[in-house]
Amino acid sequence: MTGKIIGTGSYLPELIWDNHKLTEWLDTSDEWIRERTGIGQRHISKELGACGMALEAAKKAMEDAGKAGFKAEDLGAIFVCSVTPDICVPPIACEIQKELGAVNAFCYDINAACSGFVFAYNMAVSYMESGLIKTALIIGSEQLSRIVDWNDRGSSILFGDGAGAVVVTASEEKGAAVMHSDGASGEALQCTTGGKLSMDGQKVFRFALRRVPEVIEELLDKLKMEKGQVDLFLLHQANMRIIEAVIKRLGLDSNKVPTNIERMGNTSSASLPILIDELNRAGELMPGMKMIMAGFGAGLTWGAGYITI
Ligand code: ACO
Repeated sequence: MTGKIIGTGSYLPELIWDNHKLTEWLDTSDEWIRERTGIGQRHISKELGACGMALEAAKKAMEDAGKAGFKAEDLGAIFVCSVTPDICVPPIACEIQKELGAVNAFCYDINAACSGFVFAYNMAVSYMESGLIKTALIIGSEQLSRIVDWNDRGSSILFGDGAGAVVVTASEEKGAAVMHSDGASGEALQCTTGGKLSMDGQKVFRFALRRVPEVIEELLDKLKMEKGQVDLFLLHQANMRIIEAVIKRLGLDSNKVPTNIERMGNTSSASLPILIDELNRAGELMPGMKMIMAGFGAGLTWGAGYITI
């Protein structure tokens, strides 16, 4: 069994900070940031926190799913992934349930950093396989601007705010999941409650270059699929250089690896659902498409999942 997308939505704050804006207080340049990361701008949320952005994205995803007659009461579960929750009790997912009227869903939040969306998706498919649910709303929502140290030029240049949401239903097609964690390397990327994010950029870079190709190969093995049978590889939008290196290492066709990092920066757990929503709204997701998602980030955590439409 695997998951099939039936609705997508996203929310991006109106305020945009391009790289030039950062040069107002940082010793950096548009050229340096573009060359090292591929990022040109990021959205910044001054008004909505993770909960408010998650709700906006969720409403759009439910509206999209509603075109096929899907209703909030049909949701079996709601999962919200965030490393920047603005409320911890009740869980954001329960707030979303209340606002949507998804009375039959069970709801909770998960934090698996930038791997959050892939982990939550794989978990949702496991629940589908166990017969517990048929459909789930999975949301990634991040207000990273709140925890970024804006005086640290080595990390602040990467991150942005936003939310994405995907409604997924059970499909009988064969699926597979891969998830890993390495808590012993957690110091590479950390943030204490109320503190600011600190990162060993080169360590995270090396980790991603090794683990992302590995986890994609591992998933393909489990699926008994060849790379050529996959229509799209959806990678966490962390850094363009990481994405390009993964393409090279796996020998992928870059047309099959869509990106939006130039306009969004790294939105952690929101990056994949925002990308999926963009592709959906651009009419680039066709029925029957086979897609592999890969997430990686703090923890360290990394994983891959198989999804169709
Ligand atoms: N502007 C100008 N110069 C800078 C900047 C900047 N913004 N940042 C660092 N530098 C300087 C450094 O001070 C250093 O100068 P020095 O040689 O005089 O000491 C030089 O540039 C090189 O610094 P490095 O840290 O080696 O730069 P690097 O090429 O590694 O790029 C970067 C830094 C972009 C952070 C890179 O390491 C990276 O992308 N790592 C991966 C990080 C990542 O993707 N994290 C998120 C993934 S997990 C998740 O999504 C939460």
